[in-house]
Amino acid sequence: MWWHDCDDLRSKNGELWQLFHTRSTFVRDALMTTLQHIGVLTSGGDAPGMNAAVRAVARSAIYHNIKVTGISEGYTGLLEGKLTLLNSRSVSNIVNQGGTFLKSARCMEFYKPEGRAKAAEQLRESGIEALVVIGGDGSFTGATLLAREQHIPVVGIPGTIDNDIYGTDFTIGFDTAINTVQEAVDKIRDTATSHNRLFIIEVMGRDAGYIALYAGIGAGSEEILIPEKSRDIDYLLHSLNRSDRAGKTSSIVIVAEGDKSGGVFELAKTVEEKLPGYSTRVTVLGHLQRGGRPTCADRVLASRLGVAAVDTLRDGTSGVMVGLRDNRITLTGLEKACKETPDMDPELIRVADIVSI
Ligand code: F6P
Repeated sequence: MWWHDCDDLRSKNGELWQLFHTRSTFVRDALMTTLQHIGVLTSGGDAPGMNAAVRAVARSAIYHNIKVTGISEGYTGLLEGKLTLLNSRSVSNIVNQGGTFLKSARCMEFYKPEGRAKAAEQLRESGIEALVVIGGDGSFTGATLLAREQHIPVVGIPGTIDNDIYGTDFTIGFDTAINTVQEAVDKIRDTATSHNRLFIIEVMGRDAGYIALYAGIGAGSEEILIPEKSRDIDYLLHSLNRSDRAGKTSSIVIVAEGDKSGGVFELAKTVEEKLPGYSTRVTVLGHLQRGGRPTCADRVLASRLGVAAVDTLRDGTSGVMVGLRDNRITLTGLEKACKETPDMDPELIRVADIVSI
């Protein structure tokens, strides 16, 4: 059978040109004209906007007279046959809902070849010819193996609050998460200034610092610690001393959970030991960063990527992730999207350092 080895695919002058080596043009052309039934699932950590993406996939398939099946609870539900044929009304009133009505799960069985074989069998028995996977890098790893081992055409949509997926400027859920964090930090700043306190706030992001960096700039934090910039406790102490000399009576420090400077509780303990003048408190924002009504930006991104995913399958292309780069839909090989990590923009870090003096 076939799948595409895709290098980066990038739109140019409004026309999609592709660098890929199709294994079988005949099968590809056949899929282009006869795609009749696709499946869609959400996988990994949920993210606000996933529902908007599912809605866009479903309505785009229906618009093109393609059957669409919703698979509940990610790969776990696929293995257990939790499949529901969707119609246009199935996805009404969810564009504004956080979470994912298809639910999500992390599936250990799917990481074994026999699990993927069982999943492929489930798809074939249900007549599902291609699969749209909305999730993060872990979900795409499974999708890549399913495509390679079982020759199931798969297209990925980047859905995670972490924004740590190569091949797209932003992932679905990221904008909502940074607005949630910004709002929380604004609230914490009220009490920090009222009590002349230092707050050290941990945010999500797994091994990436995008949530911390964007929300830290937006919330006007005095310092942002991210894994991409290995700044240690001595750097923080120096920064706090500088804030003190600048006459600041309270401070906010945002720490990405993947940062390697010792963890927020250890940082607070060391600050109180070294800078006894500081009254320090710690807040771990946790899973509230995963919830909430998706912002308009996330709803639009999810809708664009959902429609693009169906267009990509209709075009007979698979083994790719749809993304948005420079505000244009692009395709990236799914394996590359899993393995590469996006570069942290040094300009953003420079802005954060300057505006926080
Ligand atoms: O990947 C999204 C994410 O929220 C990460 O930022 C976080 O580290 C992780 O999921 C938490 O995973 P769980 O929901 O399984 O505790």
